[in-house]
Amino acid sequence: MFGFKNKMKKKNELSMDSMQNGVEMISAADPSSVIAEQFKTVRTNIQFSNADHSYRNILLTSSMASEGKSTIAANLAVTFANQGLRTLLVDADMRRPTINATFSIANPKGLTNYLTDRDFDVNQAIYETSVENLFVMPSGPVPPNPAELLNSKRMDLLIKALSEQLDLVIYDAPPLLSVTDAQVLSTKVEGTILVTRQNTTEKDAVKHAVDLLKHVNANIIGSIYNDVRSEGGSGYYGYYGYGYYGKSDKEQKNS
Ligand SMILES: Nc1ncnc2c1ncn2[C@@H]1O[C@H](COP(=O)(O)OP(=O)(O)OP(=O)(O)O)[C@@H](O)[C@H]1O
Ligand SMILES: [Mg+2]
Repeated sequence: MFGFKNKMKKKNELSMDSMQNGVEMISAADPSSVIAEQFKTVRTNIQFSNADHSYRNILLTSSMASEGKSTIAANLAVTFANQGLRTLLVDADMRRPTINATFSIANPKGLTNYLTDRDFDVNQAIYETSVENLFVMPSGPVPPNPAELLNSKRMDLLIKALSEQLDLVIYDAPPLLSVTDAQVLSTKVEGTILVTRQNTTEKDAVKHAVDLLKHVNANIIGSIYNDVRSEGGSGYYGYYGYGYYGKSDKEQKNS
């Protein structure tokens, strides 16, 4: 009885699954699966959402924890890489990182090494993967001040430098409602995508998250609906879908 009790999750306890075991790389494991096809559709929608030029960097965030940001970021990165784009997935979630577990990188150097050490060569934090054209940057050792580091000039320099080296950089960020990290980063990237999860994300939380992004003039380019279950759907994973909040703030200002 005690053993069972100890294993039971407390209410509101955060899932440690992705941090310990990594996220599921469905797009890489089974490129012809329904899920992989769904990610291709998401990719196409992202590409078509910007008629002028391709996004060079995008940020994935959500209102709360465990809505699927890291799973979607990694699978989307594979999908872009499969199209021939040199793609880098950056673990900008220094509090609940997943890249080291997903890609089996032990004691990785990463983003925080670069941000805290002026002499650190950024290439030491970029790892090749078994997927052609896909590179990853783990978050590195956990710092005491993630938001401050992400808000630094050095972070601006990094975002610029990475975008010059790669075709697309995808930043996986923490949730908006718990810490300011994603809000800070959203001002530095070309586009922000909000992940919501069916039956988990509350409407008020989404509204609050969108308000936080608008408050800093982030360019919200769309929303990915995760875990959408439909009758006769693909089962456990549900369907990934992609939708828009309409024209982004910046586009509206320019039109
Ligand atoms: N569509 C899905 N169907 C089933 N399980 C899913 C789906 N999407 C994500 N999960 C599971 O939900 C958990 C959380 O996913 P993930 O780590 O990607 O979320 P996250 O938003 O990055 O979380 P965090 O806030 O900790 O960064 C994981 O165990 C993952 O395997
Ligand atoms: Mg995550």
